[in-house]
Amino acid sequence: MGNAVRKDGTAQGVAKVRHWESLHPPEKRLYHDPYAFAMFSGSIIQQWMGPALIDRVYRWMGMGGFSEMISVRTKWIDDQIEEAISNENAPAKQLLILGAGYDTRGFRLDLWKNDKDFTVIEVDQPEVQMGKLKNLLWLSNRRDEDGQRIADRMGTTKVQFLPMDFNKDDLQQKISSHAGFRCNVSSVVTMEGVTQYIPKESTADTLKKLRRIVSPGSTALITYVDQKCLGDLETLPRQYRWVRNLAAKAGEPWISGWTKEEFEKFLKECGYEVVSDTSQEDYNDTYLKDVGRQLEGEDLLNMERFVIAKVL
Ligand SMILES: C[S@@+](CC[C@H](N)C(=O)[O-])C[C@H]1O[C@@H](n2cnc3c(N)ncnc32)[C@H](O)[C@@H]1O
Repeated sequence: MGNAVRKDGTAQGVAKVRHWESLHPPEKRLYHDPYAFAMFSGSIIQQWMGPALIDRVYRWMGMGGFSEMISVRTKWIDDQIEEAISNENAPAKQLLILGAGYDTRGFRLDLWKNDKDFTVIEVDQPEVQMGKLKNLLWLSNRRDEDGQRIADRMGTTKVQFLPMDFNKDDLQQKISSHAGFRCNVSSVVTMEGVTQYIPKESTADTLKKLRRIVSPGSTALITYVDQKCLGDLETLPRQYRWVRNLAAKAGEPWISGWTKEEFEKFLKECGYEVVSDTSQEDYNDTYLKDVGRQLEGEDLLNMERFVIAKVL
């Protein structure tokens, strides 16, 4: 279950938050990820501490609001995927997870309820994907229902894996020669917590290539870091400094950010139209209120923005 690779520090960090979220009682949580515990080191300690104590420690460390931001992002993407596969006119027939890390949507969501041929393709760096496959294999050997679900979906190739590096490889070339990929069908694509780690040129190239191989009207769910977070560290609020330092220490510094206007223009140039661009704040009175966990003051972070864009 351990991870020999060290390109997955931030991906493990996200899994850690998803495990924390899943430790909340059902009425207090935004989603449940039964696999997150196996995707990072030290889940036993989190399990022992419980969500309230972990939360207090996070706040004491100066990162109040950060876990909620990741959890809101996860819940938001879950909901958008559900909407895309349930669309009456052009339901998505495949989910492409770009920079998948330890995302477990292919196993925890019911993506096959409307279409038995639905396919999930996870794309990530080879080393990270290898580590994840080991974790999934370990989980699939468990005799419980969650383990069985992994074995079924991997055994029937409902969930597939494509190793690639956005900075070196050509998405169109790689994915269109992948056996499970269906060209020009309505698709839902996620790029969650990825654009800040790669040069803007890599994101542009990936999105431009993607556009040529999925049908027009397909949905892209992309998150990006607000340009203000990339400013001089000393001038930023402490949570922002904390998160940037953490990513840099993991060897995955934040290098790309946009203003809202710039990102809309950037996507237009890549062949996409923005449908909505929101941030954690927009879900404080809905998602977080619904579970009695609204945030206040400086804990209401707006580092990352969440975009729904349509392929033109
Ligand atoms: C913060 S993690 C987010 C993972 C996942 N999307 C999630 O939300 O759980 C960033 C992910 O981007 C991937 N990534 C970073 N640079 C990449 C590159 N050049 N090519 C492919 N994937 C990359 C990392 O391997 C990692 O899985």
